[in-house]
Amino acid sequence: MASTRRDFLKNSAIAGAALTMSNPKRATAQDPQRQLPTPRAMELMEFFGLKYPIFQAPHGGAGPDLVAAVSGVGGMGILGGTRLTPEDARRAVATVRARTERRFAVNYILAFDSASLPVVLETGAPVLHFSWGLPTKEMISAVRGAGAKFGVQVANASGARSALDLGADYLVCQGVEAGGHVQSSIALYELLPKVLDQAGKTPVLAAGGIAHGRKIRAALLAGASGAMLGTRFVATQESLAHPDYKNVLIKSRGSETSMSVCFQDGWPGATHRSLRNPTLERWEAAGSPPVGRRPGEGDVVARRSDGTSILRYNFASPQRDLRGAITDMALFAGQGVDDVRDLPSAAELVARLWAECLDQSSR
Ligand SMILES: Cc1cc2nc3c(=O)[nH]c(=O)nc-3n(C[C@H](O)[C@H](O)[C@H](O)COP(=O)(O)O)c2cc1C
Repeated sequence: MASTRRDFLKNSAIAGAALTMSNPKRATAQDPQRQLPTPRAMELMEFFGLKYPIFQAPHGGAGPDLVAAVSGVGGMGILGGTRLTPEDARRAVATVRARTERRFAVNYILAFDSASLPVVLETGAPVLHFSWGLPTKEMISAVRGAGAKFGVQVANASGARSALDLGADYLVCQGVEAGGHVQSSIALYELLPKVLDQAGKTPVLAAGGIAHGRKIRAALLAGASGAMLGTRFVATQESLAHPDYKNVLIKSRGSETSMSVCFQDGWPGATHRSLRNPTLERWEAAGSPPVGRRPGEGDVVARRSDGTSILRYNFASPQRDLRGAITDMALFAGQGVDDVRDLPSAAELVARLWAECLDQSSR
C-alpha cells in the first residue's frame, strides 16, 4: 500500500512537471518572478533542443551509456573525451549517436592534449565542452567547420570575458563547491552575477554543489540558464564509477569533502575536491608533503582489468573495472553530496530533479 502511494506521489510529481513544461505559467501564475522554466532557461532549451535545462558534467564515469541516457530524456549528456584515444573517442561518439538523436557534448580538459578532437568532430559530435583553459583559434575553426557548438567552463569574470570573445555558445560558471578538479576559488553565488554581467544574452549554467532540484531552481531564479551537475550523476546506474565509490557517495556529507592537491599524480598541482579518506588523512597527518615525500607513495592501491596498477596518489577516480582498495583512491565529490542518497537511473534522476525544481514548496 505504502509503495502504491509513493508511486502515485512520484508519478504525480513527474506528470506535474510535464504539465508545467507545456504551460509554464500554470504552476506559478501568482508569482511571475518565480515562473519556471525562466525565460533564460527556455532560450537555452530551445537553442539545444532540450526538455530540461540540466547538463550532466563530464567525469570518469560518464561513458556512452550515461551520456546517451541523459541526452535521450532531454538533458545534455557530456562525454569525457580528454583521455580517450582517437579510436575509442570515435567509438564512444558513434555509440551515443546510435542511441539518441538529441544533442550531447564531448569534453576536453585543455590542460591536456586534445588529440582526439578532430575525430570526435568528424564522427558528428554536435557540441564541444571545454574546461581548464580556452580553445585555440584552430580548434574553434574546426568546431565551426563541422557545424558544432561549443561552451567553456569558467572560474572568474575575466575567463568568462575571454571565452565570450572567442564566440562561446554557452558558459558554465563553476563555484568552489564543485566536486572533482576545481578551477574556481569563489563561491558559486558570488561568482554567478559577475559572469552573468559579462555574458549578456549568452547562456550561463551554474555548477558546483548542486545535487537537488531546489538548488537548480535557486540557480535559475538567480539568472542562470541551467545547471550542470557532476557528483549527482556519478551516483547513477549507468555511471561507470566503481560501486564502492557510489556507495560511499550516498552515505557522505558535504562537510566531509576537502580541497587539496593530494591526488595529483597525472595532473601535478591541480586542486580538487574529494571525500576525506585514509590516503588524504595520512597525507595531511604527515604535513601535506610534496611529491617524493608522501606516505605510502609507491603503494599499489588497485589494479585495472588488464593487470596494470594504480598507485596511491593517482588523480583518477575509481571506475567499475578496478579491483583493490577502491576507497583509498580519489573519491571526488562536491559539497552537494548531502543530497545524493540513492542510485537511480539517469532518466529517473533527470525527471526527479526537474519535478523538485518545480516544487516551490521545497526550499
Ligand atoms: C568525479 C568527477 C570527475 C570530474 N571530471 C571532470 C572532467 O573530466 N572534466 C571537467 O571539465 N570537469 C570535471 N569535473 C568537474 C565538473 O565539470 C563540475 O564542475 C562539477 O562536477 C560540478 O560540481 P558538482 O560535482 O558538485 O556537481 C568532475 C567532477 C567530478 C565529481
